[in-house]
Amino acid sequence: MTITSFTINGRAVRVDLDDETPLLWVIRDEIGLTGTKFGCGIGMCGACTVHVGGRATRSCITPIASVDGAEVTTIEGLDPASNHPVQKAWREIQVPQCGYCQSGQIMQAAAMLVDFPNPTDADIDAVMTGNLCRCMTYVRIRAAVRQAAGEMAAGVVPTAKAKA
Ligand code: FES
Ligand code: FES
Repeated sequence: MTITSFTINGRAVRVDLDDETPLLWVIRDEIGLTGTKFGCGIGMCGACTVHVGGRATRSCITPIASVDGAEVTTIEGLDPASNHPVQKAWREIQVPQCGYCQSGQIMQAAAMLVDFPNPTDADIDAVMTGNLCRCMTYVRIRAAVRQAAGEMAAGVVPTAKAKA
C-alpha cells in the first residue's frame, strides 16, 4: 500500500492503495467518475482511455503508482461544458450508437489532434485503430476527427480543463 497523489480534472486527490491497482478502478470506484468505461481490461480495446500528462493512456493497465504526481484527465474534464471541438463534432455527426466505446474514442481523438493537427485518413486510422467499436462507427469517427481538426485549425481552441 502506498499513497499516490495526482490531479484528476484539475482536482488534487490522494489514494492509499496497492501499487498495482489499475487507474481505471480508482477513477470509477474510488473517485466516482464513471464516464471512463471498462471493456477488455487488458489494454486491447481503448474503452478506458484517459489522458495522463496529455497523452492517451489505457487506464485499465496503468498501475496507480505510476501516476504519482501526474495530471489525469477523464472525459468529464475534457471541457467544462462538454464543448471540446471533438465533442462538438461527435454530436454534430452523431457518431455514437450504443455509446459504450465513445468516451475512449473521444479521449484518443482529442490527444491525437495535439500531435496531428491536420490528420490524413491514414493518420486517423493509425492512431484510432486500437479503439474498438462493436457498433462499427469507424466511418463517422473519421469524419468527426476531420471536422474537429478543421474547427481547431480555424481558431477554436479547447477551453481550459474543467474542475471536477
Ligand atoms: S478496458 Fe482498457 S483497453 Fe480495454
Ligand atoms: S458506439 Fe457502440 S461500441 Fe462503439
